[in-house]
Amino acid sequence: MRERTPVPDAPLPQREAVAETLFALTAPTPGPSLSRYIARTADREQALEFLMQRSIYTLREADAHSWAIPRLTGRAKAALMEIQADEYGGGDFDRMHQDLFARTLLHAGLDAGYGAYVDRVPAITLASFNLMTMFGLNRRLRGAAVGHLAAFEMTSSIPCRAIAEGLRRVGFDDVVADYYDEHVEADAVHEQIAGRDLAGSLAEDEPELLGDILFGAAACLTVDGWAGDHILQAWEASRSSLRGAVGVRS
Ligand SMILES: [Fe+2]
Ligand SMILES: [Fe+2]
Repeated sequence: MRERTPVPDAPLPQREAVAETLFALTAPTPGPSLSRYIARTADREQALEFLMQRSIYTLREADAHSWAIPRLTGRAKAALMEIQADEYGGGDFDRMHQDLFARTLLHAGLDAGYGAYVDRVPAITLASFNLMTMFGLNRRLRGAAVGHLAAFEMTSSIPCRAIAEGLRRVGFDDVVADYYDEHVEADAVHEQIAGRDLAGSLAEDEPELLGDILFGAAACLTVDGWAGDHILQAWEASRSSLRGAVGVRS
């Protein structure tokens, strides 16, 4: 993974400099994008396929990064807790992001049981979830877990707006779009906390982790880029992105 991940040059281990580097790394790029395709082009069947692909991670949203909580200390730990508390609904079950997504699946007519689509998704979708789990579960990789979460939050708000637009365009209602609506604002806040208070503070407090913070962010973009490309390339060739789908879509 490290060999295949282009990592930016490290700035000084200071909050603002680290946040700036992460925001530059994750800035939206022109060219093909899965979320833009969903906003403008995808049909209803492809929108459903996208939700099935996302179910592997999103029905367990935040859990993989929560593994890093006991592996951090001080300011970084407090910042991670602030983000995660929000992900878990701040104590309100109805606002827990995992549950918002379960409602998205149910109202779209899909199965919200965990793992329902695990045999249908390609290996790269599983790799995306495995990557963040590996980072979260290993103390030596806590810098990478933090960088991964920062990049994840920084690349969420704008795509979520596009996905909500696409879901409505193909006829789904507000309940289906709610998870994505919620993330337009939530992740615009989370990305600030993740860049400065989480990644920036960790780099100041443990400068030896700066390289891994940047690696984790870059690895998130690389692997999630591969997963998104897999789906886009299948759709552009009029195929399903799921395993076990036969034939060419008409
Ligand atoms: Fe969330
Ligand atoms: Fe978030």
